[in-house]
Amino acid sequence: MSKSREMRILWFLLLFLCEARSQGVSRPNFVLLVADDLGIGDPGCYGNKTLRTPGMDRLAQEGVKLTQHLAASPLCTPSRAAFMTGRYPVRSGMASAARVGVFIFSACSGGLPTSEVTFAKLLKNQGYSTALIGKWHLGNNCHNNADFCHHPLSHGFGYFYGLLGTNMRDCKPGDGTVFIGGIRVLAYTPLKVITITLLTLVALKHLGLLDVPPAVFFCLLFLAALILGLLLAFLHYFRPLNCFLIRDHEITQQPMSYDNLTQRLTRDAASFIRRNVDTPFLLVLSYLHVHTALYSSEEFAGKSKHGTYGDAVEEMDWSIGQILNVLDELRLSNNTLVYFTSDHGAHVEELNSKGEVHGGSNGIYKGGKSNNWEGGIRIPGIFRWPGVLQAGLEIDEPTSNMDVFPTVVKLAGSPLPEDRVIDGRDLMPLLQGRSQRSDHEFLFHYCNVYLNAVRWHPQNSSSIWKAFFFTPKFTPEGANGCFSTHLCFCYGQYITHHDPPLLFDISKDPRERNPLSPRTEPRFREIVATMQQAADLHTRALQAVPNQLSLGNILWKPWLQMCCSSSGLSCQCDREAQDERETL
Ligand SMILES: *[C@@H]1O[C@H](CO)[C@@H](O)[C@H](O)[C@H]1NC(C)=O
Ligand SMILES: *[C@@H]1O[C@H](CO)[C@@H](O)[C@H](O)[C@H]1NC(C)=O
Repeated sequence: MSKSREMRILWFLLLFLCEARSQGVSRPNFVLLVADDLGIGDPGCYGNKTLRTPGMDRLAQEGVKLTQHLAASPLCTPSRAAFMTGRYPVRSGMASAARVGVFIFSACSGGLPTSEVTFAKLLKNQGYSTALIGKWHLGNNCHNNADFCHHPLSHGFGYFYGLLGTNMRDCKPGDGTVFIGGIRVLAYTPLKVITITLLTLVALKHLGLLDVPPAVFFCLLFLAALILGLLLAFLHYFRPLNCFLIRDHEITQQPMSYDNLTQRLTRDAASFIRRNVDTPFLLVLSYLHVHTALYSSEEFAGKSKHGTYGDAVEEMDWSIGQILNVLDELRLSNNTLVYFTSDHGAHVEELNSKGEVHGGSNGIYKGGKSNNWEGGIRIPGIFRWPGVLQAGLEIDEPTSNMDVFPTVVKLAGSPLPEDRVIDGRDLMPLLQGRSQRSDHEFLFHYCNVYLNAVRWHPQNSSSIWKAFFFTPKFTPEGANGCFSTHLCFCYGQYITHHDPPLLFDISKDPRERNPLSPRTEPRFREIVATMQQAADLHTRALQAVPNQLSLGNILWKPWLQMCCSSSGLSCQCDREAQDERETL
């Protein structure tokens, strides 16, 4: 072999090694922090002056803050499905056609289909260590109580600790129930009717006006007892059957306790990071905060200026700070992309039984959770990656929580799936300032399965048009939400249709106060026609998929129920204390 040839081979080898090494170094870790029901008006870095959120503020100061970051849906389950898959929830069947738009029971058969590809799955294939800690809310079992077809471990997460369903008032003794409406219709009204009938019959019989056979009394009493029994059983068993903590496939606490819950989740997240100092990792820390039931540990209870809601926000913020400290301590900060967001806007209708506000603030924006006014979908969105993203940058282009999927997947060195539509767009060009424009010309805003509004950011224009095909009827009239029904619904008597659509220029009217008309906007018809056409194209290209939120898929199915004790219906155990001792 000639000397020069040898040299060339050596050079080649060296280059190859360097390339491989630099690729290894440039593949960052990911820490994705997701709040539940937090409004964009809550973090200090988004303008709140009275809630203390130093953790979130630090992220914004050291990273890039998005001011028009949008949830793919104003409800938990569909928004989280879109976040995990980078696709509109209708594409995976994770959008309801009826009133109930989220999973309520842990033992329901609906969930994120295994045919869907999450970013966790792709990262795991790339050698990433992957974990989800906290809330999932995308299903669990399909056919029996241990097939785990929709479980996080079946969707690319190598480790899971948390809650399969969602935090709810019914999970916390003394915090009331979210089923008041259902109880009124299914139990209270029938019981009232039966009682009145019984009393009337007794009176008539007593007065000798009517001869009522004893069997009638017996039947009515039996019916009343049955309804009452079912109601009491439901209220009694709901908590253990739905509110439990689970590690991988093993229940650790049933029912879950709120004592130091955030501390436990944070500690678990920190130890996952510590275990993976030498491996690229993906951590999704999906907080139970600040959905009701509100809770906080002794250290935070009563400390904020905004009641139990504010205490919960401040405790979550403390946890964010802890995670950032761990990254610093392990010298991982410069090699970790941290993202912070909420699943959708604050639930403004959420009041406790004493009328205390238990929902957050959507700042200047109208509406909130469960509707597509800006308050329902505009969410905090912060990306921090020191040395790669410019600290303190603010971007007002429309972006979506679906964009996290392609952004993360590309950075991890994985190709994007080619056999399906991915609606998210890689955010790195925008975040790094290489591009000034969002890749989203059109964004579609769904109310469950119904196309509610379209957003259009025309090229070479600063306008952000938003056209509503329908809007929710706020109740009582004039309110900033659907207080009479607690959430807004997406069809029938609950909405007002608009033809032509209700058009706003969000860039000039972010509060959505002044709908445009052909008189105030000379290009009105042209704009609306373009948006209508985009909506038609989008809708026509959708493929029919099984509805994961059909009645059959959201109902409680006893054979899917997980229970940590084999004896009877009690389902009670607490291995958390034991686990804690073992990790010490
Ligand atoms: C700050 O957050 C609290 C709690 O959500 C809210 O009551 C208050 O109105 C917010 N302040 C601003 C300026 O949005
Ligand atoms: C992290 O990156 C920042 C910004 O580039 C730099 O100032 C800092 O020294 C780096 N820290 C470490 C530990 O490398």
